[in-house]
Amino acid sequence: MANIKKIALLTGGGDCPGLNAVIRAATRTAIVEYGIEVIGFLNGYRGLYNGNWIELDAKTISGILPVGGTMLYSSNKDNLFKFPFEVDGETVYRDVSDVGVENLKRAGADALLIIGGDGTLTSGRDFWRKGVPVIGVPKTIDNDLSCTDSTFGFDTAVAVATEALDRLHTTACSHHRIMVLEVMGRYAGWIALHAGIAGGADAIIIPEIPYDIEKVASKINERKANGKDFSIVVVSEGAKSITGEMVVQKIVADSPDPIRLGGVGNKIADELEKLCGNEARATILGHLQRGGSPTAYDRVLSTRYGSYAVELAMQGKFGNMVTLDGDTMSYDTLENVIGKNKNVDPDGELVRIAKNIGVCFGD
Ligand code: F6P
Repeated sequence: MANIKKIALLTGGGDCPGLNAVIRAATRTAIVEYGIEVIGFLNGYRGLYNGNWIELDAKTISGILPVGGTMLYSSNKDNLFKFPFEVDGETVYRDVSDVGVENLKRAGADALLIIGGDGTLTSGRDFWRKGVPVIGVPKTIDNDLSCTDSTFGFDTAVAVATEALDRLHTTACSHHRIMVLEVMGRYAGWIALHAGIAGGADAIIIPEIPYDIEKVASKINERKANGKDFSIVVVSEGAKSITGEMVVQKIVADSPDPIRLGGVGNKIADELEKLCGNEARATILGHLQRGGSPTAYDRVLSTRYGSYAVELAMQGKFGNMVTLDGDTMSYDTLENVIGKNKNVDPDGELVRIAKNIGVCFGD
């Protein structure tokens, strides 16, 4: 057992349903099982820099299990190893991570649980390299983090996208339209693939399989020839055609990952309208996939992640990230998990099964 009297938590990067459930499970495990104290830094690494933290106890975490977002707030801009300052009208970057280390000491915390995606965990690894006792908890709706089978928030995002597809089906049918649903996922097609199968999409377009729009149009025309004059297409925001690039919505200059994708759904709807003759409409689901209450599955998974993270800290197993390995909680080194994307295998079982049931991937 490590000599831990107090642990600190922070949440960084884009939020995700289940973050509060992780905070609750970690806090409860620390208090109930180990009798130690818990604090939470606010607004991700910015709170660590500003020394802005709150006590977490039975009272402060009460009622948060089903609530979306994060009670500790988040930021996907603050990298303390490359922190921006305005000097003479110019932005210069400085390493202010020592301030974070000092604030952790000032708060009396013996360990830091970092709940975040790739950018947040990269800083976590860098703090670990500086000697801070860090445990990482992977978070993303995109399910694209390596070394873990599933991240909390993904199931909720898939449920929201599936409900959207169900709703689009009825209106598509009434108006004989092509309905294109654009979902999140960055450079991985997990949300599109799972929601597309669950929501009975006719075509699923994902970044891992560059699409030929003519092939998608052929699928829609084939349906029409068989008496189905509406179609449902789900497209991942990171999709790219066999000739084109990804559609970038904007660049957020001060973010560690500045590219924000979005808009490919409109492009595909326009092209399909021209090629197939049916009216086409695009829906961009956006942050609806990230907000709101987590599913029961995500609440259980978040609870497992949060509780296991504290167990690891108490065993002194720092420098690791909690993972889900099959149906078992496990861990892997932060050094190993950072910087690798987990992508859909174009030749994998799920794509094959979808193709078996007639789903077009545009290839
Ligand atoms: O990584 C989660 C995610 O929601 C992606 O699916 C999406 O591309 C991105 O974050 C959106 O980021 P922001 O909230 O900064 O617009």
